[in-house]
Amino acid sequence: MLTLEQATKALPVNGYLKLDVPKDLDLVQEIKKLKTEKNAIILAHYYQSKEIQDLADFLGDSLQLARAAKETDAKMIVFCGVHFMSECAKILNPEKTVVLPDTLAGCSLADSCTGEGLRALREKHPGSQVVSYINCDAGVKAESDLIVTSSNAVAMIESIPKETPIIFAPDRNLGAYLNKVTGRNMILWDGACIVHEAFNFEKIAQQILDHPNAKLIAHPESEANILEMAHFVGSTSALLNFVRDDSATEFIIATEEGILHEMQKRAPGKKLIPALVDDENCSCSECYFMKRNTLEKIYLAMKYELPAIEIDEELRLKALKPIEKMLELSKNIK
Ligand code: 13P
Ligand code: SF4
Repeated sequence: MLTLEQATKALPVNGYLKLDVPKDLDLVQEIKKLKTEKNAIILAHYYQSKEIQDLADFLGDSLQLARAAKETDAKMIVFCGVHFMSECAKILNPEKTVVLPDTLAGCSLADSCTGEGLRALREKHPGSQVVSYINCDAGVKAESDLIVTSSNAVAMIESIPKETPIIFAPDRNLGAYLNKVTGRNMILWDGACIVHEAFNFEKIAQQILDHPNAKLIAHPESEANILEMAHFVGSTSALLNFVRDDSATEFIIATEEGILHEMQKRAPGKKLIPALVDDENCSCSECYFMKRNTLEKIYLAMKYELPAIEIDEELRLKALKPIEKMLELSKNIK
């Protein structure tokens, strides 16, 4: 068994405090107790596991979570999502202790792009505006003029004059979708979400034939052929609202499967069918990064206030600018 000191030293390798937790400990109760003791708020994304979603004080999409992180007056933010989200919370609210239960909860999109790479691309296209999807690290945000999330991206792009050239990073699928919807010709960074890219066109086409009354709905991180086939395309919160409000009673869902938990709660009588992926052995569309967070890791992170997100102040201030611009421009978007 590791001591706290050894576990803290091993944090960069393990991503979380690898300490023994008594098997019979009621983790939900302990986490609730720690919430009060530490004046903490638990923020969770819809792709987290069911038990984490049920424990959260606030459940939301990337934009809603950024707003909640900025507005909270709790002392500690426990971010149940991935690294770029918790880093964004720290950028927006630096006085708070922000813990991410497992710092190896990354993102293939964020990993695909660096600040230096983006700066080099901008130098090749002088006069361009750089717009980045929130799924990127602080270095990339610091090189960006504006940040977008999937729920405000169309409005954010449309806020930029038509004649201004735009570089869009890091999601080539969301970028291509935005080019189509807004009629732009943005230069696209070549990154992708490994979860949404795994959806299989032929298998989903067969699902549609097998469920003739079902509507296919998809997140815009999916590839163009899936989006073209979809009845509705939107952010996680838009997909949730669509299923709740639409008259159809069956839906094929092309996004990370964690969302089905909240979706079923909002639309109890409706049939939700996860869209099929390439994997022969698994029909699931789980984000390995999102699912690194567990109740045990949350408990340890709250108890020891580790791993905590830290960010260099100069970098924070640079990254803050395009995020604040987004929050200001999307004040009216829910
Ligand atoms: P939204 O919840 O903002 O739609 O983003 C999805 C996502 O990729 C989270 O990783
Ligand atoms: Fe990143 Fe995709 Fe996972 Fe979202 S679902 S965190 S975009 S890898």
